Amino acid sequence: MKVLYNTSLKSYNTFGIDVKAKTFVEITSEKELIDALDQFRDEDKLVLGGGSNMLLTKDVESVVFHLNSKGKEILKEDENTILVKASAGENWHSLVLWCIEKNYGGLENLSLIPGNVGTSPIQNIGAYGVELKDVFYSCEAIHTKTLKKHTFSKEECKFGYRESIFKTTEKGNYIITNVTFQLTKKNHTLNTSYGVIEEVLTQKNIASPTIKDISDAVISIRQSKLPDPKEIGNSGSFFKNPVISEKDFQHFITANPNAPFYKAGDNYKIPAGWLIEQCGFKGKRFGDAGVHAKQALVLVNHGEATGKEIFELSQKIQQTVFENFGIKIETEVNII
Ligand code: EPU
Repeated sequence: MKVLYNTSLKSYNTFGIDVKAKTFVEITSEKELIDALDQFRDEDKLVLGGGSNMLLTKDVESVVFHLNSKGKEILKEDENTILVKASAGENWHSLVLWCIEKNYGGLENLSLIPGNVGTSPIQNIGAYGVELKDVFYSCEAIHTKTLKKHTFSKEECKFGYRESIFKTTEKGNYIITNVTFQLTKKNHTLNTSYGVIEEVLTQKNIASPTIKDISDAVISIRQSKLPDPKEIGNSGSFFKNPVISEKDFQHFITANPNAPFYKAGDNYKIPAGWLIEQCGFKGKRFGDAGVHAKQALVLVNHGEATGKEIFELSQKIQQTVFENFGIKIETEVNII
């Protein structure tokens, strides 16, 4: 375990916000995690994985636990399926590429999502028709107070749209140390129904795609719409797509007949990116805080924006969307 004091977190969050951590603990194994939890037993903690889903608005007084444990192992396999266990500190996209290279199917639609393996179940990451829950088998986590290990099954995690118990009833109680995925070795279930994936495959004349073809398509779609955090600070979707009732939807669609929407059970999901674009924010810049020009759901740091400036922009967007549409949009990103 390595402990640093008054250290900048700029390179540890994908927004590239330059705030300081009073105490920063680098953890590379489960044993180190348990030791660190013991040592900092009475202090508030902030767990940092890839730092891809948070906006840091001020210096961090809590002890920052940076989980950097590495490792992938095959737990079990038969002719058709395989269980792959990956440590929390593994980079998400590297895991996806490793699986594709070995022809393990299931993660391809989730290519190029920033962040690490350990935080993927917390918000049930999802893209292009697939969510983490579709490939999740279990995860191990250490209780922050009792220091006991618990293995969570898929049912226990209570996954929902960008939700899990790690964001609700068990918030702050556990630190995930590894995740096990159930993948396919052959007869892969391909998810090509998301319109834009089909378009790319058709353009490339691919009639029977492999998992690599799908991954390549997702990578090119993401690269064309979403900014690369290495080039321009961002945290992917800053807001969740709002889900509204049938009654509110009827009202909304009558007033906005051209709005895109998806059915979500008995309710309707409206793309927040569309609502934000309609309010005129797409591509706008306020100092170094801005709204991405190709996807209005993504807020960006053009260089030296502070977390507070980005947070203030997000509040202005929420307020304007509410004034124009009567719809509340919630942040997907954790504001710290
Ligand atoms: N749209 C606009 N203007 C915009 C952005 C989107 O009109 O600026 C419209 C699009 O034309 C389309 C609809 O909104 O009709 C949906 O857009 P898109 O397919 O880009 O998806 P999204 O709903 O905006 C969600 C996820 C993304 C994920 C994509 C693809 C959430 C909060 N976001 O975005 O996730 O990549 O679907 O599956 O659910 C992330 O979580 O960081 C993320 C990037």
